[in-house]
Amino acid sequence: MHVDATEKKWLYISIAMTAFIIGLLAFHAIGNNMHPPSNVEPINSDRLHVEGEFMEDNLGVKEMPDGSVEVRMVAARYGFYPQEIEVPAETPVKFRIASADVLHGFHVPYTNLATMVVPGYVSEVNTELPAAGVGTHPMLCNEYCGLGHDHMWSKITIVPARGGQ
Ligand code: CUA
Repeated sequence: MHVDATEKKWLYISIAMTAFIIGLLAFHAIGNNMHPPSNVEPINSDRLHVEGEFMEDNLGVKEMPDGSVEVRMVAARYGFYPQEIEVPAETPVKFRIASADVLHGFHVPYTNLATMVVPGYVSEVNTELPAAGVGTHPMLCNEYCGLGHDHMWSKITIVPARGGQ
């Protein structure tokens, strides 16, 4: 089969580009230990308010015996509940969030707090908030969820670590 020299050249270039891009992806995925969210934990979104972990009384910030903090929230059109939370800086914090209705996003600007909140699943994020972030920030929804999406936000206040600094 005859392949024109120019065509052959471009064939090699496109193969090289594909190999380069796959190599780059592999390098970052493996080198930077990147992975998709791993917490596959189903929950019945219809019954969040009537039973279990995400009932109203269980929501909010809880201090754990080991000094870490757990935050439990429900994302629902249009807000994150409770609508105001206070978490200490430089302390391990575990966020557990469930949606009561549709897909939402959970995002706190200038921190690594960002996750999708998919109905039917619990989103879990473990982090430590920096001392430089002390103050009040918005928790925003960054997945379009309906007409009120623009107004879907709640407040997070980062306070200095309890142990003093
Ligand atoms: Cu919730 Cu957009």
